[in-house]
Amino acid sequence: MISQELNDRLTRTGKGQPAGEVLRRYWQPAALAEELDGGRPVAPVTLLGERLVLFRDDDGALGLIGRHCPHRGADLYFGRQEGKGLRCPFHGWLYDRNGRCLEQPGEPEGSRMHERIRAPSYPVVERNGIVFAYMGPGDPPDFPGFDCFRAPGSHVFAFKGLWECNWLQALEIGIDPAHASFLHRFLEDEDPQGGYGRQFRDSAAAGSNIPMTRLLRDYPRPELQVAETEFGLRLTALRHMEGGLTHVRVTNQIFPQAICIPMSREMTITQWHVPVDDRTCYWYSLFTSFDKPVDKAMMRAQRLEEHSLPGYAPLKNRRNDYGYDPEEQAARTWTGMGFDINVHDQWAVEGMGPIQDRTAEHLGSTDIGIVRYRRLLRTAIDGLATGDETVLPMLNGTDPAGLVGPLSNDTIADTADWEVASMRADRERRIACPWDASL
Ligand code: FES
Ligand SMILES: [Fe+2]
Repeated sequence: MISQELNDRLTRTGKGQPAGEVLRRYWQPAALAEELDGGRPVAPVTLLGERLVLFRDDDGALGLIGRHCPHRGADLYFGRQEGKGLRCPFHGWLYDRNGRCLEQPGEPEGSRMHERIRAPSYPVVERNGIVFAYMGPGDPPDFPGFDCFRAPGSHVFAFKGLWECNWLQALEIGIDPAHASFLHRFLEDEDPQGGYGRQFRDSAAAGSNIPMTRLLRDYPRPELQVAETEFGLRLTALRHMEGGLTHVRVTNQIFPQAICIPMSREMTITQWHVPVDDRTCYWYSLFTSFDKPVDKAMMRAQRLEEHSLPGYAPLKNRRNDYGYDPEEQAARTWTGMGFDINVHDQWAVEGMGPIQDRTAEHLGSTDIGIVRYRRLLRTAIDGLATGDETVLPMLNGTDPAGLVGPLSNDTIADTADWEVASMRADRERRIACPWDASL
């Protein structure tokens, strides 16, 4: 458990808040590119507690500006999207993608007042289906060379979903490798062949016919190892099996608020947990295929069965008890909340309350990833407070383009050889990959 004061420091993300200032030093997912599809390329964005509006101008360039018109505060999401930018419907002031006020059609002819008016604006860039924003001081950092950014668009699918809780508890479930043996337990196994696009439905490793669901169920006490890396943390979960074999699952924490984990033999998931405000967050995922192009239509349809647009809100939520069915819980799943593991995670983190009270928690040995992550975040917060930015992972002089991978894989190996075997399996997948995934 931690003090209330520290819990506040780690969870609050508004401007000027300690954790908020750390998050603002990194590119943040602001929207899916598909939110600008359709007739009118304008989308409302609330990010780190700031109300903003994202739009595309007639040059095709993206702009992310303050939601409230600098004149008298009208809502620019309802602005008229014109060639050069967004025009406020109230009195017609026009803003370009950099927030500059270009016209004030109701002011006297020749007035130059508009030159002094500026809406807040942030740099934005699209990467493989996600529009990222930089809300920090100075120039934004370069993007790392991770697989999800190096893979061509054909091999990456992007999606998002809303969770009604603080971003930190959402992230912490992703660095807790032990929960999968319980929360995501299925009492019956499915044919891995039918599991395309879904997590934990494949076989437990290349060349193995053990379903991942069985592996997780049969070996609930993983040995966990956590190592610090240039980008954050590498977590290794070892499930020692019969016959001198070990299942090795390598996942990653990418500072400050992403994880990179295996989804199936074919794909990894890179997932950011992004504060809308301190009590709501979106997960944004890039599903990256190392094999065939991603079947985006199928993956989108699967996820739209579980989410409503335009807010990407899950259909199962606390207002309908997450679809909880005690008979299913008795016979088929550990939660009784269906077969979409996202719902399980959502229930776990939302049930803690909007901001988990960490003064009342009791961390066990399987929470080592969480302990190590909080230490990284504290170090970053303390560093920023004293003006020392060299403690910020990936911003401390490391060449971001040189940050590749990360290794994110499931392997079954001889127990004596697990480390080498895990790296070998990753290398083999990279060699066979149709795009350049070399390290
Ligand atoms: S409030 Fe926007 S132009 Fe007046
Ligand atoms: Fe989970």
